[in-house]
Amino acid sequence: MSTKKVGILTAGGDSPGLNAAIRGFGKSAIGHYDMELFGFRDGITGLVENRYEPLDARSLSGILTVGGTILGTSRDKVHRFPTPDGPVDMVPQVVENYERASLDALIILGGGGTAKNAKRLVDAGLNVIHLPKTIDNDIAETDTTFGFATAMEIATDAIDRVHSTAHSHHRIILTEIMGHGAGWLTLGAGIAGGADIILIPEIPYTVESVAATITERTRRGSTFSVVAVAEGARDVADTADYEAARLLVKSAKTPEAQRAARAHLKNVEDTQREHTFKLARELEAATGLEARVTILGYVQRGGSPSAADRVLATRLGAAAARLVADGEFGVMVAARGEDAVPVPLEKVAGKVKLVPPDHAWVQAARMVGTGLGD
Ligand code: F6P
Repeated sequence: MSTKKVGILTAGGDSPGLNAAIRGFGKSAIGHYDMELFGFRDGITGLVENRYEPLDARSLSGILTVGGTILGTSRDKVHRFPTPDGPVDMVPQVVENYERASLDALIILGGGGTAKNAKRLVDAGLNVIHLPKTIDNDIAETDTTFGFATAMEIATDAIDRVHSTAHSHHRIILTEIMGHGAGWLTLGAGIAGGADIILIPEIPYTVESVAATITERTRRGSTFSVVAVAEGARDVADTADYEAARLLVKSAKTPEAQRAARAHLKNVEDTQREHTFKLARELEAATGLEARVTILGYVQRGGSPSAADRVLATRLGAAAARLVADGEFGVMVAARGEDAVPVPLEKVAGKVKLVPPDHAWVQAARMVGTGLGD
């Protein structure tokens, strides 16, 4: 049997564990299955521009603990690739590059958006396997994603730390946590860090409810509060505006109507962007306490992956190598308990895993007296 040639790339926002997964796949592919490995630079961009280089045991050594991605990444989309003349469908170009390099398979590490790119390449006839990474933990069909556990540790540590300063100054400190439209990271870190209030996109809040939780704490003698706020959290009114704007985009029939609906949605998003600062001002007015905001931002995506993410990335990477050897493609390697299970990409692409409002984590938070803002 001839040696299999496999390409690998990382796409979308970076997250801790990408290098551990590249290593997990690469060491298994090269060392165990005797495959040849090629790393494409900067995600889909490098795939379109045909920028790749061989990866060997040496290039995979020493990267397990390293943050970011040794391959670089980008958010470019294969079907709307940016060119000076506007977006172009580059799927045919990628197919040509794949064939010219005589690849037998392509391993794509990425989040939900990347799963859609991967599916487009599968539909074009390429042998693609997707590995689920994102700090947001919002990919469908998998228990979890690598990057999430590390980001949750970082956000938890931040919540731990703001407690003492909130306590010293008798302040409300709002800690804004990433997660895009999903509340997993804020909910997990909020529970682990003992936030007094947790606000997530899946549970729209009212300022009155948040203020009532804080005032009740003051009445009981706690003159400070820590609020974990998801970047995508919204109050009830903003949620209604946002959902209406999204519905408009979905229901727009003509290109002009779509353009107008998208512009309206962007306008709504822009107006709501600094919602954590707005909430801080509203809570000051409602409670009489001083409020401060800490935006954790990219700190959550940086640095060395946690032990849990290293294990997850390694086992999903190794499982992907086995799938290439077995000739099983068009799938995402999902974490299901201790297993790594291939799931057809059509079940993943275009789906988002949100926090069910009655999820066990939500219930546990409520049971220990954490306010959810509703
Ligand atoms: O998807 C990961 C994520 O960090 C989200 O939590 C966040 O909303 C987004 O990426 C930020 O994207 P960018 O890196 O393009 O600024």
